[in-house]
Amino acid sequence: MTPPASSSQLLRQQLRQQVRYARQQLSPQQQQHAAQQLSLRLQALPLIQHSQHIAIYLANDGEIDPQPFIEWLWLQGKSVYLPVLHPFSKGHLLFLHYDATTPMTTNRYHIREPKLDVRRVKPIAELDIICTPLVAFDGTGQRLGMGGGYYDRTLSQWHQHRQGPYPIGIGHDCQYLSQLPNEKWDVPLPLVITPNHQFIEA
Ligand SMILES: Nc1ncnc2c1ncn2[C@@H]1O[C@H](COP(=O)(O)OP(=O)(O)OP(=O)(O)O)[C@@H](O)[C@H]1O
Ligand SMILES: [Mg+2]
Repeated sequence: MTPPASSSQLLRQQLRQQVRYARQQLSPQQQQHAAQQLSLRLQALPLIQHSQHIAIYLANDGEIDPQPFIEWLWLQGKSVYLPVLHPFSKGHLLFLHYDATTPMTTNRYHIREPKLDVRRVKPIAELDIICTPLVAFDGTGQRLGMGGGYYDRTLSQWHQHRQGPYPIGIGHDCQYLSQLPNEKWDVPLPLVITPNHQFIEA
């Protein structure tokens, strides 16, 4: 039997629904403008300029679209990686090299991801930056994702030992909430970038 959801889990679900709805209401023009502005902000970060191996994601569900930024990264000669659901290790992600020729498939969440190919897998410890998607964030960097715990697991080494890739949350301005409930496994982000703001800095 599934145990009854706690009140904090219910609140998290309600917040996810509310913010997902808000971002899904953005028009294609707003989305396009947001994606361009986000790209400019990310390009201006010394942290990005000095990094070579950058993991990011493909937009889904009204998420801010990293595509203009990905294209800039490619032009700069940087290596881009996308998350792929781990085939055996439930709840974990692999990161695969991504370029314009990468064979793609659709995963069980209906998200596009590179076709699994061990030659393209990049160990997480060798990534410099992971730009994480998020559903909501607050001014202390607390982050609510889609509820799978994938990024909390991916970033747990960084959280505990400051080892591995530096996480940067990216999202729309409307995904900011003044205070998010958090659980012991949630990894707070040291930096969140939106089209109009930069939140916290480690
Ligand atoms: N480091 C971890 N080890 C084991 N389980 C974890 C870890 N991090 C999160 N989880 C589990 O994952 C589940 C979902 O976590 P949570 O609700 O925080 O997801 P989320 O942060 O919204 O999702 P995501 O990280 O995919 O964006 C929880 O049941 C939690 O126990
Ligand atoms: Mg979490």
